[in-house]
Amino acid sequence: MIPQSFIQDLLNRIDIVSVVEKHVQLKKAGANLLGLCPFHTEKTPSFTVSPVKQFYHCFGCGKNGSAIGFLMDYAGLGFVEAVQELANSAGMIVPDDDQRFTPEERTEKKAVSVVQGEVMAQAERFYRQQLRQAEEAITYLKKRGVSGEIAARFGLGYAPDGRDGLRTLFPDYAAKELQESGLVIERDPNEGGASANSRYDRFRDRIMFPIRNTKGQVIGFGARVISKGEPKYLNSPETPLFQKGNELYGLFEARQDIRDAGYVLVVEGYMDVVALAQLGFPQAVATLGTACTPVQVQKLMRQTDLVVFAFDGDKAGQSAARRALEASLPYVTDNKGVRFLFLPSDHDPDSFVREYGAEAFEKEIKNAVPFSEFLFDVITKGGDLNTLEGRARAQYVAKPLLQAIQPSALRLQIVKKLGELTHTAGDELESLLGLAKPAVKKQRAPQRQSRPQIVSLGRQVVRILLMYPELVPELEEEERSAIEQFDPDDAQTLSDIVNATHALGENVSFAALTEYFRLSGRDYDHLIAEVMNGHDFDMAAARQQLKGSMRQIRIRLITEELNDLMASGKALENRQYVLDLQNEQRVLQQQNIEDKGVS
Ligand code: UTP
Ligand code: MN
Repeated sequence: MIPQSFIQDLLNRIDIVSVVEKHVQLKKAGANLLGLCPFHTEKTPSFTVSPVKQFYHCFGCGKNGSAIGFLMDYAGLGFVEAVQELANSAGMIVPDDDQRFTPEERTEKKAVSVVQGEVMAQAERFYRQQLRQAEEAITYLKKRGVSGEIAARFGLGYAPDGRDGLRTLFPDYAAKELQESGLVIERDPNEGGASANSRYDRFRDRIMFPIRNTKGQVIGFGARVISKGEPKYLNSPETPLFQKGNELYGLFEARQDIRDAGYVLVVEGYMDVVALAQLGFPQAVATLGTACTPVQVQKLMRQTDLVVFAFDGDKAGQSAARRALEASLPYVTDNKGVRFLFLPSDHDPDSFVREYGAEAFEKEIKNAVPFSEFLFDVITKGGDLNTLEGRARAQYVAKPLLQAIQPSALRLQIVKKLGELTHTAGDELESLLGLAKPAVKKQRAPQRQSRPQIVSLGRQVVRILLMYPELVPELEEEERSAIEQFDPDDAQTLSDIVNATHALGENVSFAALTEYFRLSGRDYDHLIAEVMNGHDFDMAAARQQLKGSMRQIRIRLITEELNDLMASGKALENRQYVLDLQNEQRVLQQQNIEDKGVS
């Protein structure tokens, strides 16, 4: 866990404009900057960055967030990774309350991974240069239909056929980093042999596929024999930099294409990814010779709303699909989908497109089996739903699967369908399967842009305090409880903001607050959009607005009290009090008019 205080410090230290500018061209537009949204395709810019709010918002697709959120969405980084990256750029060190390592050990670990990263980058360059002279490898790639352009896109290379070809690149061939990065293998000393000869290159006479992380750094290699040989593919071993279950081959290269296509295609082989890019499907990535993991699905879901898995139609494909289904359960929801494509059993995506053409493959993708359908295949397989044992078995199989799905409209649909198939009422089934009830979210009607909205007083206060949480202490108790009475919806939001502000302490800001809400899983997108939609104003203006709103609330309280007095016929006997109230009201109104004149 990174402490909240650090995140606020970080957000105060960095400038979102310079973070976004590295990736998106921005132009000045009033107080904000404007550009083409990197998260959806558009011709006229609706992507705004506010230097005052340290926040970005796209009025086209609704994506928004702080600098941290931008890096997460744009580069597909996890929260911790994004914080780490920003901290690095600001020269800050992320405090790590992981007690397993001493500070010295942590510095050492970091140094090691920097050196390893450098070693991998040099190796990649070396292998790429080697490919230029490797006629056999070039001929092989050409035979498989890979153009120079596509080879360059993936940085394909060639590992020469010597025992220690890397020695020309790394004169200090005995360096421990070479072994730690998996590029050389140290022979077991017990096997005998001179120690000077105990090292050799892991990759020899193979076509090299560099594997990159989401930042584009090379963290490992896949390596294929040219034509025949065993094993067909050799991979880098796992290192601190490279964990197979966390990475996807081709994800870095495909980022923009995934956005353009609106989905990502997940295949099984390096060669499939390369060939598909060549054949018109650049939105493909591959798992690294292992079953798909939840971490991988999460990584993909950060970049897109739809994941299409492609599997061979054979038995191995079926079981891989089953594993992918399980890995997807925590991430599918009403707007995040998964589909399964089963190819004929003697085909992989590469061979399928070459035999039947891109159009046929496109059709397969369109017709891929939806998540729910494959889920029911799994649930009902091997049991006869016409018998009560079969129906009970289906529920038994379904239980852990459904428990892993987030409460959502989709899960409700699945429960209903399962209820029909197993002759059980939905409520009964939910308690039988131990499913928590989804929290019913109130749907707000979408905002109309054209007509000016009448904004409740509570809402006005909420907007001001969200933008300038520093002003929270200036909100008075009486006004706050009045908001509870008048606008209960806003009161809930208001108390969220007040509580978060207290939790965050003195460095609180709009960006820090929104980051805090995101981490606590609360959805304030609509409100954030409102704030982004409004004019930028400075803290002094905000304070004045807050005072104005509080006066309005007081005026309203007085009006109510006066009405009560009239209605109960007690106005006359409390004549002086009524006059005082009316007087106070006038003063408040006058103050508001004067204030308006100033601002
Ligand atoms: P495949 O055997 O299906 O290879 O392995 P492929 O992708 O179709 O490759 P080509 O078309 O013959 O060149 C699929 C994936 O399984 C892993 C690799 O990640 C490979 O891309 N694999 C396969 C290995 O790690 N080692 C092997 O020996 C074979
Ligand atoms: Mn293949």
